[in-house]
Amino acid sequence: MNSERIKTLASFVSLEDNVLDVGCDHGYLSIYLYKNHLCASVLASDISSSALDMAKKNFSKYQVSIKAYVSDGFESVDAYFDTAVIAGMGTSTILHILDNHKCPNKLIISSHNDLFKLRKTLNKKGFKLVKEASIWENGHYYSIMLWEKGRQKLTKSELLFGISKSRDYYLYLFKKNKELLEKVPFLKRLKLRYLNYLLKGLIEKK
Ligand SMILES: C[S@@+](CC[C@H](N)C(=O)[O-])C[C@H]1O[C@@H](n2cnc3c(N)ncnc32)[C@H](O)[C@@H]1O
Repeated sequence: MNSERIKTLASFVSLEDNVLDVGCDHGYLSIYLYKNHLCASVLASDISSSALDMAKKNFSKYQVSIKAYVSDGFESVDAYFDTAVIAGMGTSTILHILDNHKCPNKLIISSHNDLFKLRKTLNKKGFKLVKEASIWENGHYYSIMLWEKGRQKLTKSELLFGISKSRDYYLYLFKKNKELLEKVPFLKRLKLRYLNYLLKGLIEKK
């Protein structure tokens, strides 16, 4: 396994966790967790039966015994889990998945869009952001977050840019916003200037 992204998702899992890999697709994260004995148990699920068939093929190829469910999020999973990994989806799908009575108290999440809305909504739902990493892979930054039940007041900068404290990530966002400045209408330009003002504060922080 040479995906830094998958290794980082796995590094947020603890030995005592009973993990459900939601939207497992190929099943690589589940296999990595199982093979390396990184948690107490692993289940896998995906809304797509063809994705799950591929995961099941990989489970036999790598000789791992992982129960797999066709399920919209947690809905059809009837075995015990206390930790969910939800990665590689957009924020609206992730929030839809979390809006379920089976939502566990520990979440490892990586969304590919609208991270502000994701952090704000999870924080409002009574989760605290414990840890975050910004991982560069295949020409993209991936924000990987660990959330646990609890109260926490996140600042505007933390809601917008997370808590990874990765200067490279903040610099990347700053430069991207700067490039966009020339191409967008006035109001959007004001917003980008404000975002870059906050990012500058993070970049210059010791
Ligand atoms: C891009 S793949 C990500 C695979 C893996 N989690 C990763 O991060 O490498 C997204 C997967 O999420 C699945 N998915 C999308 N919506 C879902 C839902 N509501 N419940 C479960 N799985 C879902 C898709 O079928 C697809 O296999």
